[in-house]
Amino acid sequence: MNLLVTGGAGFIGSAFIRYVLSTRAGTRVVNLDALTYAGNLENLAAIDGHKDYRFVRGEITDQPLVESLLADERIDAVVHFAAESHVDRSILSSKPFFDTNVLGTLALLDAARKTKLARFVHVSTDEVYGDIDAPHEADEGFPLRASSPYSASKAASDLTALSYVRTFGLNLSVTRASNNYGPYQFPEKLIPLMISNALTGKPLPIYGDGQQIRDWLYVDDHCRGIWAVLERGAAGEVYNIGGNCSLPNLDVVRRILTFTGASESLLTPVADRPGHDRRYALTSGKMERDLHWSPLMDFETGLRLTIDWYRANSEWTQRVQSGAYRDYYEQNYGSR
Ligand code: NAD
Ligand code: DAU
Repeated sequence: MNLLVTGGAGFIGSAFIRYVLSTRAGTRVVNLDALTYAGNLENLAAIDGHKDYRFVRGEITDQPLVESLLADERIDAVVHFAAESHVDRSILSSKPFFDTNVLGTLALLDAARKTKLARFVHVSTDEVYGDIDAPHEADEGFPLRASSPYSASKAASDLTALSYVRTFGLNLSVTRASNNYGPYQFPEKLIPLMISNALTGKPLPIYGDGQQIRDWLYVDDHCRGIWAVLERGAAGEVYNIGGNCSLPNLDVVRRILTFTGASESLLTPVADRPGHDRRYALTSGKMERDLHWSPLMDFETGLRLTIDWYRANSEWTQRVQSGAYRDYYEQNYGSR
């Protein structure tokens, strides 16, 4: 199988490419990535020079480029990760989110349609369901109630992708995963930011009361789920992929303090995120029933592995926390 992976230099996309090339002999991967601040070819150093891998630097909004890749590389399937992915950045500046997440997805869909692509997996998020009151959990039929510009752009891309199944018969499935964590995650998201700050003795900024709930999914479990959907998912179907691990943020951060040995005094309450979703919760019953997938990693083991990785790769973290990262940090946290 020839796969086009978009956003393969980011956190989850790179984990997916490493997973595919190490477990699925006979699969060739072409990685299309624009290398934004979040894209990093160091994440793929382990497969550098692999005979079944090619990297192409480019924008998913560039439809002629996508069409030529689909045709020239005889692509059988697209797995679409490329996105602007961080909620806080979407609050600081929304437009790039709609350019990439909506118009970029549209360009991919049109290219897929024109070249009669055989299979498409659109990678999305549980954030499109918005806040969910306990004890409810979102299944795939739950209404979309996006709260942030990021989630609105993802919800728009999901609906556009599904419309291409209904109207044009594209063989496409949508995945909606919960919060991922693991090695190589850009240190703007909760877990890698807190690990990085704890390891260097910097304040740990807790938004509001820290009682917001997220469901944590180890990135390799997510990648297995996406593969299952790629192989066995049905056209027009949405698949929730959750970690079965719902925790308040403060519990997660306290565990990071314990496992890193950092001081409680680093905990720093700061002004809440505007529009902050209180609780995400989803059921992955459909993945379990239909595709025989369930998450394998328990949170304590996954978190310890992740902390060990950041300890052992402090140079990776220092390099991605360059000038542009410091500007973002100042913008997002400076006056909180
Ligand atoms: P990321 O920010 O780490 O990586 C995004 C990648 O996309 C980067 O390599 C970037 O260079 C690339 N990219 C951005 N704009 C592009 C463009 N216009 N053209 C080509 N490449 C472009 O993101 P991630 O956390 O790995 O998330 C990947 C996908 O999974 C996203 O679609 C996101 O919405 C979804 N998702 C993420 C999570 C999570 O917890 N991180 C959970 C559920 C779903
Ligand atoms: O649910 C899936 C989504 O998870 C993905 O679609 C997004 O791409 C991904 O960024 C993530 O969104 P969240 O907003 O849930 O993740 P984030 O890591 O930014 O924040 C997790 C929680 O931690 C959230 O309640 C906000 C809080 N937080 C975050 C940061 C960065 C803090 O309290 N302090 C912080 O500094």
